[in-house]
Amino acid sequence: MTSKIQIVNATEAHLQGILDIFNYAVKETFAVWTEREDTMNDRRAWMHNLHANNYACIVALDIQNKVLGYGAYGPFRNKSGYDISVEHSVYVSPTAQGQGIGNVIMKELIQRAINDSRLERMIAAIDAGNPASIKLHEKFGFETQGLLKGVAKKWNEDRDLQLMIKDIKSRSN
Ligand SMILES: CC(C)(COP(=O)(O)OP(=O)(O)OC[C@H]1O[C@@H](n2cnc3c(N)ncnc32)[C@H](O)[C@@H]1OP(=O)(O)O)[C@@H](O)C(=O)NCCC(=O)NCCS
Repeated sequence: MTSKIQIVNATEAHLQGILDIFNYAVKETFAVWTEREDTMNDRRAWMHNLHANNYACIVALDIQNKVLGYGAYGPFRNKSGYDISVEHSVYVSPTAQGQGIGNVIMKELIQRAINDSRLERMIAAIDAGNPASIKLHEKFGFETQGLLKGVAKKWNEDRDLQLMIKDIKSRSN
């Protein structure tokens, strides 16, 4: 399956696919802590901002160029001292999960971050009740360095934030 997957930089042509995957996560999961769906303009601004600052915004496509998943990284926090760190996200379409696509996207994001001489750390901020994402990050060498309990609510439920970090300063994968 993954041998037929192509990873490319996200463009306007991929925005609807990205939007659909993100909004599914908003409506159906705790992966993202908002109940407000994004609009096409939200996603367009997000993508343009990442590209304009030379951050990664990539999609995984099938042979018909359908978006099966996406990954991106951008600033962790916006004070200049944090410029060595990026926060990333990986989302796979619900119908394409469990087939290795998250692996492929994560590998590419890490490689791009390693190739970016500005960067020393990658940070994932994950719902502590999301074992698929936590396992995926462990598999790629991310280490849990923080658990912030009850920092958010979704659908009136308290949520805990697990912070996972990968040191990429050594430039090895
Ligand atoms: C997390 C997510 C990106 C994983 O993508 P995926 O394509 O389903 O994952 P893959 O099939 O490539 O599996 C990669 C690894 O993830 C982990 N994993 C994936 N699904 C898992 C599950 N249901 N339970 C436990 N671990 C799981 C495993 O470590 C797996 O490696 P392995 O196959 O060697 O065991 C995907 O489930 C997703 O998009 N979830 C909704 C959005 C989300 O939670 N994003 C992360 C926000 S921080």
